[in-house]
Amino acid sequence: MSRTDPVGIITAKRDGADLDDEQIRSVIAGYTAGTVAPEQMSALLMAIVWRGLTRRETATWTRSMIDTGVRLDFSDLRRDGRPLPTVDKHSTGGVGDTVTLTLTPLIASHGVAVPQLSGRGLGHTGGTLDKLESIPGWRADVDVDEMRALLERTGAVVCAATADLVPADRLLYALRDVTGTVASVPLIAASIMSKKIAEGTSALVLDVKAGSGAFMTSLDDARRLAEIMVALGGDSGVRTSALITDMSAPLGRSAGNAVEVAEALEVLAGGGPADMVELTLALAAEMLDAAGLSDVDPAEHLADGRAMDSWRAMIAGQGGDPDAPLPTPRHTHDVLVAADGVLTGLDALAVGEAAWLLGAGRSRPGDAVSSTAGVTWHAGIGDPVRRGAPLLTLHTDDEETIDAAVRALSDAVTIGERADTAAPRSRILDRVAPGGTVRTR
Ligand code: URA
Ligand code: CA
Repeated sequence: MSRTDPVGIITAKRDGADLDDEQIRSVIAGYTAGTVAPEQMSALLMAIVWRGLTRRETATWTRSMIDTGVRLDFSDLRRDGRPLPTVDKHSTGGVGDTVTLTLTPLIASHGVAVPQLSGRGLGHTGGTLDKLESIPGWRADVDVDEMRALLERTGAVVCAATADLVPADRLLYALRDVTGTVASVPLIAASIMSKKIAEGTSALVLDVKAGSGAFMTSLDDARRLAEIMVALGGDSGVRTSALITDMSAPLGRSAGNAVEVAEALEVLAGGGPADMVELTLALAAEMLDAAGLSDVDPAEHLADGRAMDSWRAMIAGQGGDPDAPLPTPRHTHDVLVAADGVLTGLDALAVGEAAWLLGAGRSRPGDAVSSTAGVTWHAGIGDPVRRGAPLLTLHTDDEETIDAAVRALSDAVTIGERADTAAPRSRILDRVAPGGTVRTR
């Protein structure tokens, strides 16, 4: 049996050996080409979930995935004859995380281009493209030439990845989803970073979430994921840093599609929930620093309307009407506060599931989502609440979904007696700088 025979590769990893570069390249290329069977790749993925990948194996796995498709290059973008820096941001996914919608135009308003290839939601986390599609006329299908033209003109594009960008990840992710093999730090790191490196940005800022609404529920796992991703970016010449942020409670005051666009507009107009503003500004500072603008205060462009101008150009550039009213739901239902006190907890996973049940998310790729579906809440963590007042509002076009959403939220709310049990916390838990240390496995 040759060293690159799939069965030999599977048994080697099963028994705890390290795979060499040639073995990793051949199995990924073979699976993408159809010569390695899905049941063989499934077995290998499960062995990796248990045995892990070393730092070198993870780097080779990532590079091999990139090599199955095209790698975009935006290093020659120009505006007014001058080179245009590019910086992208990626979030590992949370509930109510509207930050792409505030951050992208904010960064573009500083003369930095943001090529944001985004996904659609699956399960309880919302997809940025689904949110933007609630804006009348807006479309996600932008080809590479149009993407360049928009980046040079407005600096901001949020669009779907084309099929030729890391085809191995599309295939592997679909397989991991149905074989219980998503939850692996090296596989998640390689999946995310292969797409971000192939997308051609020169710098990248990661928002790695920790908490009940995130992939990584513990801070330690989130830190491990952040460290390996920062290192993988550096390997490929993409300056990468990461913030680790709290996703135990959902972000802002809304989770869903149109309700999150409305929340982003509040932030871009200089208001909005404090945690949304905090996270937007912290990530903006990282991104501007990566683009060489370390002494600008990103808050200024939220206050003076320049970020909003940039939003309007970004939406109009992709066919959307920034002045059109957002769609409103046919039905709303309030969940009331059960006791006087202070809101000390709102579970992110439960809120995400409720939004999904109301129609905001999909259960299989390709399902339609409802623009109007979602959940909004009227108090943040640490705020006083009064018995009988509305705490959460459910939004949906399908009245029959309301009972199940209410049930999903039945244990989501914690109310304490005193404010000092829930001092408002920062969402920013930690930072991993470019060149930070990496533990293997
Ligand atoms: N997001 C990705 O793109 N890939 C993963 O494996 C997990 C989250
Ligand atoms: Ca939100």
